[in-house]
Amino acid sequence: MTSYIWTAPTRIFHWLLAVGFTVAFILGDFDNLSNLHFAFGAFVGVLIFFRILFGLFGPIYSTFKDFPIGLKSQREFIHSFFSKGKIFAGHNPAASVIMLGIFFVGIICSVSGYFLYANENNVLNIGINEDSLEELHEITANLFLILVAIHLLGILAETLFHKKTGTLKSIFTGYKNIESKNAKLNGFHKIFLVLWLIIPFYVSYLAYGLPVNPKEQENKIENNENYDYDDD
Ligand code: HEM
Ligand code: HEM
Repeated sequence: MTSYIWTAPTRIFHWLLAVGFTVAFILGDFDNLSNLHFAFGAFVGVLIFFRILFGLFGPIYSTFKDFPIGLKSQREFIHSFFSKGKIFAGHNPAASVIMLGIFFVGIICSVSGYFLYANENNVLNIGINEDSLEELHEITANLFLILVAIHLLGILAETLFHKKTGTLKSIFTGYKNIESKNAKLNGFHKIFLVLWLIIPFYVSYLAYGLPVNPKEQENKIENNENYDYDDD
């Protein structure tokens, strides 16, 4: 018996987010590719913004009210993880906390990145100094990475201990090997998916075109070269 848990918008979001975050994170260290970094970083931020909206009015299992984050659920989950106890059809309680963490940290990382860019290039100053913005951006980017690592360990544990549930394949096919209500998209969800597919790419394109002060760019590249040189 199988049940449809993750509808297309959730699965497409998942894989776009995984690729977007990985590329944005790696590009963060390449000063000469800063516009490409802005493009992938903005893409991640807008993708997550749409996922948060989907969490408010999406289909069953994808809405936040189906994220069992309460203490009682966490206790139940820990006690039943190694036995054939309660089955959570959508995200289990620990996964729900990690997912919400990814959404929260991801949005702050992306927005702080924009303000950092705007401050460095004298486009906009929101009254937070550049060092604090840089620190916030770096800390949230690293926190995001830590949450992804925990997420992957969680999937590994789930695959080892609850192999029959088919959680891993569910993010590709949408189906888990459990008996539960099937998720279903309505007309509004389908229109929403189209916007979700268009707007992040469009904002990413706009971010790619953000003007960078050539002096600022030169300074950064020079500073990094000096740093590498000092290291040798
Ligand atoms: C969730 C999406 C994002 C991730 C994961 C991310 C990650 C990173 C990382 C890892 C760094 C290198 C930090 C360091 O070691 O110094 C960095 C730097 C930077 N990011 Fe992002 N970023 C994101 C979004 C953005 C966005 C949307 C913008 C601007 C539109 C942006 C602007 C910058 C700038 C200006 C720096 C350079 C800081 C400096 O060296 O002065 N980032 N980012
Ligand atoms: C940077 C990489 C990744 C990020 C940022 C990420 C993030 C997420 C997020 C936010 C969700 C929740 C989806 C939603 O409710 O909208 C999720 C679910 C999921 N992810 Fe990932 N993921 C990443 C990589 C991977 C990889 C490489 C795999 C598989 C090998 C994977 C397997 C899964 C599975 C199976 C679920 C569903 C879990 C469940 O049923 O509770 N993820 N991921």
